[in-house]
Amino acid sequence: MARIVLEDVHKSFNGAPVLAGVTLSIEDGETLVIIGRSGTGKSVTLKHIIGLLAPDRGRVRVFGRDIATLSRRELLAMRLKIGYLFQGGALLNWLTVAENVALPLREHRHELQDSEIAEIVRQKLAIVEMLPAHDKYPSEISGGMQKRAGLARAIVMDPAIILYDEPTSGLDPVMASSINQLVRRTQQVTGATQLVVTHDMASAFSIADRIAMLYQGRIIAVGTPDEIKECADPVVAQFIRGDPAGPITNGDGPRGCSSEEDDNAHAA
Ligand SMILES: Nc1ncnc2c1ncn2[C@@H]1O[C@H](COP(=O)(O)OP(=O)(O)O)[C@@H](O)[C@H]1O
Ligand SMILES: [Mg+2]
Repeated sequence: MARIVLEDVHKSFNGAPVLAGVTLSIEDGETLVIIGRSGTGKSVTLKHIIGLLAPDRGRVRVFGRDIATLSRRELLAMRLKIGYLFQGGALLNWLTVAENVALPLREHRHELQDSEIAEIVRQKLAIVEMLPAHDKYPSEISGGMQKRAGLARAIVMDPAIILYDEPTSGLDPVMASSINQLVRRTQQVTGATQLVVTHDMASAFSIADRIAMLYQGRIIAVGTPDEIKECADPVVAQFIRGDPAGPITNGDGPRGCSSEEDDNAHAA
């Protein structure tokens, strides 16, 4: 069953189309990675899933519910079932790692005793291998450790869905691959449905059950990592190779892997 369904989602900002008919389903328990260049609307897509942005046209269904039909209260309740790892980690600098991870519990789980909160925080820090940094401040730990701490906070409410915005950005290759492993492991430990957005191809291939490519406001290819590797679409092939020459530089280009061809996604 699909946990997240985007149906023909359109979104423009000041008349400029960013999403021009995104259609995509993320199945229960899978890790799907959306790849695409910077500025293509990956973060905008994630924001639609937690209802921070509403589509101009089309529908977003999460847990089977159309987000546009939810009351404010229902939307807030739904967000509690979604963990969101923000691009920068978004830790509060004046709180320790443990205090950062405890924040959602302090805000939403008033029935818990301090000792219970401390125990849950330790469990989550153990999952991301950050127990030793329990009492450190964000400025005292590396970028990779900040991502780990951010992930511990994202999973502290036991979300059924985890969204990751560029989990490896700003990390060196060694740290990036340990974060990739952690994303895989988090799925095994939590059983959550995971949606990752990234422009890091190496990361996408090591994390994904399926990869979807966002280009000019639409999903132009979806498949397993092997299928995407063999995709003949020149846009997809160029992006995977990281080749400076190809259709992407020119903006527009022919497409072969899309289910629909001859579209006018680029029309204003
Ligand atoms: N709230 C907003 N208001 C106006 N423009 C926005 C807003 N959010 C995103 N955009 C624009 O939408 C485009 C896609 O942004 P984004 O989703 O952040 O790209 P990325 O794929 O790098 O995550 C960018 O051109 C960005 O400037
Ligand atoms: Mg982004």
